[in-house]
Parts: sequence; C-alpha cells; structure tokens
Amino acid sequence: MFKSIIAGIGMYVPENIVTNNHLTKYMDTSDEWIQERTGIKERRYAHRTNETTTTMAVEASKIAIERAGITAQDIDFIVFATLSPDYYFPGCGVLLQRAMKMKEIGALDVRNQCSGFVYALSVADQFIKTGMYKNILVVGAEKHSFGLDFSTRGRNVSVIFGDGAGAVVLQPTEDNNRGILSTHLHSDGESAEILAMYNPGTHANHWANKNYASFNDGEIADMFMSHAMIDNAQNFPYMDGPSVFKKAIVKFPEVILEALKKNNYTPENISMLIPHQANLRIAQFVQQKLGLKDEQVYNNIQYYGNTTAASVPIALCEAWEKGKIKQGDLVCLAAFGSGFTWASALLKW
Ligand code: UT7
Repeated sequence: MFKSIIAGIGMYVPENIVTNNHLTKYMDTSDEWIQERTGIKERRYAHRTNETTTTMAVEASKIAIERAGITAQDIDFIVFATLSPDYYFPGCGVLLQRAMKMKEIGALDVRNQCSGFVYALSVADQFIKTGMYKNILVVGAEKHSFGLDFSTRGRNVSVIFGDGAGAVVLQPTEDNNRGILSTHLHSDGESAEILAMYNPGTHANHWANKNYASFNDGEIADMFMSHAMIDNAQNFPYMDGPSVFKKAIVKFPEVILEALKKNNYTPENISMLIPHQANLRIAQFVQQKLGLKDEQVYNNIQYYGNTTAASVPIALCEAWEKGKIKQGDLVCLAAFGSGFTWASALLKW
C-alpha cells in the first residue's frame, strides 16, 4: 500500500482587500466588534464579474501543479471542495478540468463546507493508497462575497467570510517516513439547520403548514426559488453563531486528539497545527486546551477571514511558504463546520 504525500501546494487570494471599516458603510458594525469577536482585520473579495470560485481555483492549482513538477495533463483525478460553486450544477470540478485543459479525468465535488478540504484530502488519499491514481488535484475554493447579506440583518455572517482558493497535488510515495498518516471524518446532522443556506433547495420547510400534494406545478416551482424567499433573505447563509461556537470548541480538540492517538503521538509532538480559520477565538481556545505553544499553531484569519473550504489549504500553503513547515514535520489539519461535519488529517511533511 502506498502513502500519499503533498507534492505541491498553491494558494490564491484576490487583490481586493476589504477592511472592517469598509463594511461599516453597508451595515451597523465596527472594526472593534469584528476584531474582538473574530480576530478578523480584513478579508479579500473576488472581482465581481471576472473572478469565480473556479477561476481562483485555477490560479491556486497552477502553482500547486508547478511545484509538484508536473503539468495539468498529468493530473488524473480532481476532488473539488466548495460551498459557493459557480453553478448550482454542474460542480466546479468539471469547470476546473475544462479551464485547465486536462484530460477526460474524473472530477468529484465535495460539499462539506468548512471541513470540505479535509474530507476531499481524505477521499484523494484513499485513491492514492490503493494505487488507482498517481496525481490527484485536491482543491478548496470559495467566492462568498457574491452571496452574502450586506445589510445589518446578515452582519453576524457577512463580516466573517472571505474569498480565496488553495490546492494541493497528492502523489504516492513508498517512503514510510512521509505522507498522510491518517484521516478522521465525522458528522452529526442533528443541528444541520443552524448553519445553513436553505434556498434554493427541495426542503419546502417554509410551506410546512400547507398541503404539498395539493399544489400545482407552478406553485411547486415557486417553492424552489421565489420572490418571498429573497425578500426574507432565505437565499443567504444563516448561522446561530454562539451554538456553532460551543460545538466547535468541543469537536476541534476531540478530532485532533483522535488523530494523535491513532498514531501514538501527543499534542507536544505536533510541529504545526493548521486549524480551519473559523474564528481566532476558537483557534486560541483549541491551542490552550491542547497546551500548544504559539509556534505550533498557524492562523491567518486576521487577513483573509473565514474562507470555509479554502481556509485549510490557504493556511497550510502560507505556513509552508513562510518556512514554518519543513520536511519531516508532524502537521495536523483540522476543521469543523456546517452539517455539522468535522475532520482531521495527520501527516508527516
Ligand atoms: O466556519 C464554520 C463554523 N463557524 C463558526 O465556527 C463560527 C462560530 N461562531 C462565531 O464565531 C461567533 O458566534 C460569531 C463571530 C459569529 C458571533 O460572535 P458572538 O460573540 O457569538 O456574538 P453573538 O452572535 O452572540 O452576538 C452578540 C451581539 C448581538 O447583539 P445583542 O443581541 O447582544 O444586542 C448581535 O446582534 O453582537 C451583535 N452582532 C454584531 N454587532 C456588530 C452580531 N454580529 C455583529 C456585527 N457587528 N457584525
């Protein structure tokens, strides 16, 4: 059985920097509130028309592929994680395949929101381990700025999110001292609706007091996307922040410890923890709970906000580019988010 190594990594964030003060033009918020509650100073927003989730993924992928010493033609599978796809369907995987003129390879889209990249990495790892593929492109990319409620009504969500993309190329290695040691995936759908974007969707919850069977076709089509939904902001993400926070600070340490235990390590063995960048306070809580030193944890939410599926590969790439991750280091990736889903991956760089 092979092990998977990250042979190349890349990231892309849009040029446009949006500060907290900038957001005060649209909603009742303040730089002080945002920094104190989230740690975020600024985030990037993609160009309104020229940039999409896929175009940002292309930029990150080009770098990852070049650093892996291969070409786009060598990629034999794509796993693409996003919650903000260019289209409702088809997914971004095929758009990336087309944009990069890749061969007619398989392209899989992963919809696991904040833990999407770690899930995607785990899926790719299985294909590498069995020898099925040799060069898998794993991507996390998001364009949130196009789908946020910029009125005061949506401020608890919209101040958090930012745009960007990260990508890695996974390859097999027979070197037993390197690569992905294990991945750990979890879910609990009990609270699915407390961090969700309900529409467009087929749930029909907003019609719960009516008899679905009595509707005619026109009314049913209206249930998928209607003016009323837009008027009621149901086409924007909804979050019960404090409830998500409470669950996150339990599940983050748990899934990190699970990965360490599986491989006979303890927190002090971690060279670098890359937590999903949901909130600086969550990362600091996790650091404290596990007794990690500052140099064992990498955070960049201050500059990019929460880029959901893109946050782990962006933070991993930046930490590596700054020389904070070196060959042989024990690196732990961990994420928690909507679903709820949470996940970790432990690897020897
Ligand atoms: O990445 C996926 C997983 N997501 C997370 O892990 C996010 C977890 N949750 C959080 O990070 C935090 O809950 C938030 C940052 C979203 C919110 O922070 P909080 O400290 O939990 O604030 P809150 O929601 O309890 O709101 C406190 C107050 C409220 O006002 P009142 O009711 O006390 O008068 C809010 O209306 O802050 C108000 N508020 C704001 N004020 C200024 C909410 N958003 C804002 C805002 N600016 N942007």
